[in-house]
Amino acid sequence: MTVPEFRARKGVGHPLVCVTAYDAAFARLAERAGVDALLVGDSVGRTVLGYQNELPVRVDDIVHHTAAVTRAVTSTLVIADLPYMSYPTRDTALRNAARLLQAGGATAVKLEGGRETAEVTQALTSRGFPVMAHVGLTPQTAHALGGYRVQGVRLSAAQAIVDGARAQADAGAFAIVLELLPAGLARAMTQHLVIPTIGIGAGPHCDGQIQVLHDLFGFVETAHRHTRVFADVAGLAESALADYARDVRHGVFPAPEQNFKGNRGVLDRLKFD
Ligand code: KIV
Repeated sequence: MTVPEFRARKGVGHPLVCVTAYDAAFARLAERAGVDALLVGDSVGRTVLGYQNELPVRVDDIVHHTAAVTRAVTSTLVIADLPYMSYPTRDTALRNAARLLQAGGATAVKLEGGRETAEVTQALTSRGFPVMAHVGLTPQTAHALGGYRVQGVRLSAAQAIVDGARAQADAGAFAIVLELLPAGLARAMTQHLVIPTIGIGAGPHCDGQIQVLHDLFGFVETAHRHTRVFADVAGLAESALADYARDVRHGVFPAPEQNFKGNRGVLDRLKFD
């Protein structure tokens, strides 16, 4: 999946399927499962690195995880998030986006914001960096938005989100994430925007969907309404670890089939004093 192929799926065929990925093992599984695009999101801060939110995540973290993901896939589009304060100016954005593509191996970058970051998007796209935009609930500015809550409920807020999304499309973004928006607003935006809309908590009418991998697998303390645990991988992993601990403590792991044989006679000739 290339950026132009992704962009060309606007309003055509099945919805695009995107998911976050942070390491080689799950990236490989996602590619085999037929996912269209992987986002190395700054959600890595909460899901993998143990932070309370996305703000402590650094460009180095995204480069590290993006490189793991890109080493594992051959045909899936990999998009890397520009983390908090890594694109305050056009110059810093260009420098950091270049790191995500050069050192991380990503094909595209994602940044948050509407009108206020459109000039950064313009600077990037005019120099050939494919940019995915992100409006609605934007985790990097969640404090200013009053936390993780549905956005665009009132007219003025909805209008600002629509205007911001259009500014991003005009600046050359190839797609846009719509996070935590009323389904009707996301549907109207999908009808009017010329680029694919990728929803998360924005209803079924977007051109595609994205989810945080760990939410799909039950690695969450509190379940979010906009997601679904498709398989309790976390539960399975916990019970596998409990089985492992039990078998080690009872001396039944490792079993004979896990042991290796040495050369006959070596033990007899070893000296320990
Ligand atoms: O970082 C992330 O995982 C994201 C998705 C929620 C779109 O930005």
